[in-house]
Amino acid sequence: MDETGVGDELDRRVAEAHAHYAAIRPLSRHEHDRACAVLPGGNTRSVLHFEPFPFRVARADGGRLVDLDGHSYIDFCGNYTAGLLGHSPERVRDAVIEALGRGWSLGAVHTLEADLAQLLCQRFASIEQVRFTNSGTEANLMAIGTALAFTGRPGVAVFDRAYHGGVLSFGPDIDGPHNPLNVPHHFRPARFDDIDGLPELFAIGDLGCVLIEPVQGAGGCRPASVEFLRELRDRCQRHGVVLIFDEVMTSRLAPGGAQQRFDIRPDMTTLGKYLAGGMTFGAFGGRRDIMAQFDPSQGGPLTQAGTFNNNVVSMSAAVATLRHEIDADTLAVVNTRGDGLQRRLEQVFSRSGLPMWVTGLGSMLTVHAEDDRLLELYFHAMVADGLYPARRGFMALSRLITDDDVDLLIDATERWCAAW
Ligand SMILES: Cc1ncc(COP(=O)(O)O)c(C=O)c1O
Repeated sequence: MDETGVGDELDRRVAEAHAHYAAIRPLSRHEHDRACAVLPGGNTRSVLHFEPFPFRVARADGGRLVDLDGHSYIDFCGNYTAGLLGHSPERVRDAVIEALGRGWSLGAVHTLEADLAQLLCQRFASIEQVRFTNSGTEANLMAIGTALAFTGRPGVAVFDRAYHGGVLSFGPDIDGPHNPLNVPHHFRPARFDDIDGLPELFAIGDLGCVLIEPVQGAGGCRPASVEFLRELRDRCQRHGVVLIFDEVMTSRLAPGGAQQRFDIRPDMTTLGKYLAGGMTFGAFGGRRDIMAQFDPSQGGPLTQAGTFNNNVVSMSAAVATLRHEIDADTLAVVNTRGDGLQRRLEQVFSRSGLPMWVTGLGSMLTVHAEDDRLLELYFHAMVADGLYPARRGFMALSRLITDDDVDLLIDATERWCAAW
């Protein structure tokens, strides 16, 4: 692009977009400066940063966010899938308040964790028993450790662009340097959705588990093919390797998760995000013989502590979410709407001739661009029109996003494309 001078034009337009954005958000800028003095980068969740500074939310309601400067946004980011219910769902709030009335920080077992465990075991075919954590990251760390202890082998197969948490994230180049914050497991990185690469992966011989997102989320909303997942399932079976589905994001794709949608049963599953109605949450579970390692009555050698694993807020919120908020019809509607949005965006970009495209499945999708400045401009154009996707082009529909909201995003995208 630079050869034709288009690169300079992109730089100019980005600078212009940033200046326009900043000029009408003095309060957010002020808060950003205040935060930067005490929070490196001005936040405590790196993914939330974008240039020149992120708007600060004053309040959220239904499917919308309102920033300190009074700008309102239709929330297409959906808290990176954790916001499936939309903001402040009433029955979740009521359940939490009711549970808090009976005390919290108990340091003792109560009834909610068994209620929640029952609901999850009924819902996800691969989960015969389950344990809770405080995040999806922790759920994956626990699942890996559990699987390796079960098999007695150290190798952890992972895939390019996989994101299983801030200490379990992998770049596009499987031979490239790893994220320096990753935990020191014996990772065996392989190519996502590459059936031909599987014989080599399994030939390594030391594999204890395979950890995979059936549809990569942060990696760009890339669905694996059913054939690949089936082959992975078969090979894990044959080699005694524990297959872990990271369904922290994908459990929203069907009532029983992506494993139901793809009709493939992993040995273990990890969960998180929206399942506690937006409260902090993680879970790992799976085959009874694997999870029995935590059962002292069966001589299980493993323990899992965690002060907040059964915290009253998350447990009551998750029980209310699963009992009252997320039925098959709701998920079907949200996922169908996401498929429609993806199709329409693809058409708009393809008609425009811009080097931009869309990937995803159901209510999770990502807009991609050949040049990241294009994505930056697209993002700022949406924000200027009161629409909030994630900066990286990611969108996760909540059940409160309507067809009219989708029309608004399509209109805004068409207008932006037409301006080139
Ligand atoms: C697929 C996947 N696994 C795990 C995680 C980590 O979850 P958490 O942010 O709750 O630690 C994420 C978070 O985005 C995720 O997308």
